[in-house]
Amino acid sequence: MTYERSFRKLYQHLTNITIETVNKLVAPKAKIIDFGAGTGRLSIPLSELGYEVTAVEPSKEMINQLRKKDHESSVETVVSTMQDFKGNKDQDLALCVFTVILYLVDEKSLKNALNSVYDSLKKDAVFLIDIPSRLLFNSYAYDDEKISRHVNIKNLNGDIYEYTENLTVSDIHHKDTVYTDTFHIKYWPKEEVFNILLEIGFILVSDQSEQFVGTGSQYYVFKKS
Ligand SMILES: C[S@@+](CC[C@H](N)C(=O)[O-])C[C@H]1O[C@@H](n2cnc3c(N)ncnc32)[C@H](O)[C@@H]1O
Repeated sequence: MTYERSFRKLYQHLTNITIETVNKLVAPKAKIIDFGAGTGRLSIPLSELGYEVTAVEPSKEMINQLRKKDHESSVETVVSTMQDFKGNKDQDLALCVFTVILYLVDEKSLKNALNSVYDSLKKDAVFLIDIPSRLLFNSYAYDDEKISRHVNIKNLNGDIYEYTENLTVSDIHHKDTVYTDTFHIKYWPKEEVFNILLEIGFILVSDQSEQFVGTGSQYYVFKKS
């Protein structure tokens, strides 16, 4: 919610172009699996468009928020990391977008996560993934009358960064609630991600990055061979 508030315009634009991209790849009623679904930014509108959506997300808190927003209760939710998810080769499209791969901080986790994506898809099904650029590894702050959000991103060594978020939310009585979260994230060079995907058996179908200019990420469509 606070992310949506602090980046409303970019967030809405990104959501629209991601949904447009999905619509060009598959038609409603198709089965979509959204890895690292968060609070359902994509899962919910896609299910409202008639897709059969499964949201995979390790954070119970995020899943609870998704369920609250999903008034029709039409999104199937699974509390799991990508790495631990066991697919059934029954999905028409998989999503792993909006920086999810940054949370995978070693090669084994990334390989296992992308293998899970592969195992969740039918033959010839498609996979939309974003690969964030180094531009996204910069600290930033957002303040308005309700929230103050300060994100500090510090390089630890090489491609590993420490991400610290300090969030202050004021209620109507001007009482502040403070949240802090710290974890590690990793920059993944495109070539490394591509090599793993090709080794697993994915084929590159298209580079969609032009549509996503300004988002700090490159977007690619792969197909399960
Ligand atoms: C920036 S959010 C993106 C949410 C969503 N994909 C979207 O487009 O709005 C990143 C999400 O990845 C989730 N995540 C972190 N580690 C993960 C893992 N190992 N497997 C799957 N999701 C993970 C986080 O909990 C968070 O909800």
